Amino acid sequence: GAVPGSREELEAAVRARLEQVERGLLVAAEANTALVTEAAQHIIRSGGKRFRPLLVATAGGLGEVPAEERLVVAAEVVELTHVASLYHDDVMDEAQLRRGAQSANRRWQNSVAILVGDYLFARASDLVADLGPQWVQLQARTFARLVQGQIAETVGPGEGVDPLGHHLAVLADKTGSLIATSCVFGGMAAGLPQPALDALGAYGEEIGLVFQLSDDLIDITSDTTGKEPGTDLRAGVPTLPTLMLAASDDPEDVDLTRLIGSDLSDAGRLDEALTRLRAHPVIERAREHVRGRAEVAKQHLAVLPDVPAREALAELADQLVDRVA
Ligand code: FPP
Ligand code: MG
Ligand code: MG
Repeated sequence: GAVPGSREELEAAVRARLEQVERGLLVAAEANTALVTEAAQHIIRSGGKRFRPLLVATAGGLGEVPAEERLVVAAEVVELTHVASLYHDDVMDEAQLRRGAQSANRRWQNSVAILVGDYLFARASDLVADLGPQWVQLQARTFARLVQGQIAETVGPGEGVDPLGHHLAVLADKTGSLIATSCVFGGMAAGLPQPALDALGAYGEEIGLVFQLSDDLIDITSDTTGKEPGTDLRAGVPTLPTLMLAASDDPEDVDLTRLIGSDLSDAGRLDEALTRLRAHPVIERAREHVRGRAEVAKQHLAVLPDVPAREALAELADQLVDRVA
């Protein structure tokens, strides 16, 4: 066996936790009708990176004797919450593809996708109740931030509000909050004191932004995401590079911003916008922004115990950046 407290031991423990989570997710999605079970398991079975469970399982390694059962349940809670939000998000975004498979709203219909999202959220609430009121409260506050972030994105920045600042606040709420909570749950199961939990939350929120900003960049720069490329662009959803571009008054940039802001339902126009944006220096500036955030995230880890789990969290921040490098 691996040396106690070694990196190998951590990785074996994380793997074992994630295997249990995988089984637990499918069980949690079971319902009393075949349709609901099938629809609720659909997005879970379509794949996904299980990034939030990985964070719970890894942060759990920061304590000497983590509560294993709690780690697994907490990891299921955050992934179920995430998946629930995706069912709703795909309805709002009219997405046809999720994780390389048909989205639930396309496979069934909007009402089924919405109710199945609610069902999964109910299942997550049931599980988190086993962990105690502090856990329920953090879960509830996270859910409130997810919803407010999603609404703020839908409503837009409003008069006199800096669009880039608004965008980053939306991402902190709709993505950063649940990723922060994943890290904090891991730390809670590990029995860490409040200052360490605060640091984990700050780290998580920052890598949550790195995660979403890099995802949005990949949506522009790559053709192999499991979603349709240029989805945000076509839907008129602002992203870090398009907001940076919109702040420029260079005539060529203004022209490209106008194209991006126009109706891109035509494949040729979308392709032109994508091609021009891909070749533009804002892509590299956006990458720089993402790299800077990953560095800030790693700095938050300094107050945590110097154990392999801390090193693993630092490497995770680097790996997120490598995806867009
Ligand atoms: C994906 O963003 C969406 C989110 C990260 C949050 C969505 C939150 C809600 C719908 C509210 C919460 C609801 C429940 C039931 C928990 P995106 O559309 O930018 O990403 P994508 O490219 O993966 O679709
Ligand atoms: Mg979406
Ligand atoms: Mg969305």
